Amino acid sequence: MDHFTYRDGILHAEDVPLTTIAEAVGTPVYVYSTATLTRHFRVFEEALAGLDHLICYAVKANSNLAVLRLMGSLGAGMDVVSEGEYRRARAAGVPGERIVFSGVGKTREEMRVALEGGIRQFNVESEPELFALSEVASSLGLRAPIALRVNPDVDAKTHAKIATGKSENKFGIPIARAREVYAEAAALPGIAVVGVDVHIGSQLTELAPFETAFTRVAELVPALRADGHDIVRVDLGGGLGIPYRRANEAPPLPFDYGEVIRRTVGPLGCEIEIEPGRLIVGNAGILLTRVIWRKNGEGRDFLIVDAAMNDLVRPAMYDAWHDIVPVAESSPGDELPPVDVVGPVCETGDTFARERPLPVLDSGDLVAFRSAGAYGAVMASEYNSRPLVPEVLVRGDQFDVVRARPSFDEMLKRDSIPSWIPEIP
Ligand code: LLP
Repeated sequence: MDHFTYRDGILHAEDVPLTTIAEAVGTPVYVYSTATLTRHFRVFEEALAGLDHLICYAVKANSNLAVLRLMGSLGAGMDVVSEGEYRRARAAGVPGERIVFSGVGKTREEMRVALEGGIRQFNVESEPELFALSEVASSLGLRAPIALRVNPDVDAKTHAKIATGKSENKFGIPIARAREVYAEAAALPGIAVVGVDVHIGSQLTELAPFETAFTRVAELVPALRADGHDIVRVDLGGGLGIPYRRANEAPPLPFDYGEVIRRTVGPLGCEIEIEPGRLIVGNAGILLTRVIWRKNGEGRDFLIVDAAMNDLVRPAMYDAWHDIVPVAESSPGDELPPVDVVGPVCETGDTFARERPLPVLDSGDLVAFRSAGAYGAVMASEYNSRPLVPEVLVRGDQFDVVRARPSFDEMLKRDSIPSWIPEIP
């Protein structure tokens, strides 16, 4: 459930008409709903109620400081994968002891920053990383708390670009080698083994792969304990999918995901961490855009909007579907022949939808790409020298610009021209 609904014929974010935001901030613009973000976080809390747990929101899904502050204020921890994300989490006010550091390529510098700033645990993905982390921690007179990310060789049944739990993927340590690597870890002076970590992919629309992966973790933990390791935490990663096509998709509910957790790793008596990103923010955000032109092509028509692949790359990158809805509610019978919805960037890949049935829309009309709160703004770029798309957070009948659109002057100022290049006569 989300809080983007039609009222008096206009799509609203909570109590704010999207037309108001478009006028005040311009388009394209991301719009997030506080009520939806809050609700999705609470749904996970309820799903894990009674279990000792920490929900570590995956910062990569949407790293706006306002979103991080909101999550932190609700009690979330954070899952970060870079120094930048770590700094964002800290800048939002999240204490180090609630931040886990994931990622397959942490640098020594990133390890140092997190160790000095405070960290709950590193999810370590390889032996070279383990040895380096021990050295960095020892040099600071510290021991780094770690979980090893195991690769359970499970097919997550999601898009190949976001599946991470098969043995051919770059992630984690093969589960068959886990005991050996835990033994190495325990012998290192700068390492304190605290847990086991697994993450098999994103946008999972079935529970069975989670169940298989969590069962493998549940089998591993007693073996590790028998080897003498004090395993007090399991981190189950993120990945629960969301409905992108509202009309015909119904991915599993967090409650049922919680039941799988209870059934598989619940009896271990460990503290449970999960790292959801998409389910919390995905349907809490839309990308609001304006039609520039409607163009009749040969055999097909195009709706050219002012958002482009640099603002929302998911359709171009993963052939992802986003529902597209008009801001002014349409009546049945208003449909156009199907159109291609495209952006202004000079690439054919700058296509949001092909042959999409939509109501009659023309120059100046506003449309919303739904389910754009996760992996939207964070993956945006300035390709074609288009300013980074701004972000707005709505709460009730109020809204705040939580990231402003940069001016062209600000964009130009970041470059510099060496003095040896002559002026242009
Ligand atoms: N934990 C780890 C270690 C991850 O790698 C990820 C996502 C998550 C948690 C959060 O997963 P979520 O709950 O959001 O599914 N850009 C892609 C998605 C990439 C996901 C990468 N890892 C997209 O737009 O679909």
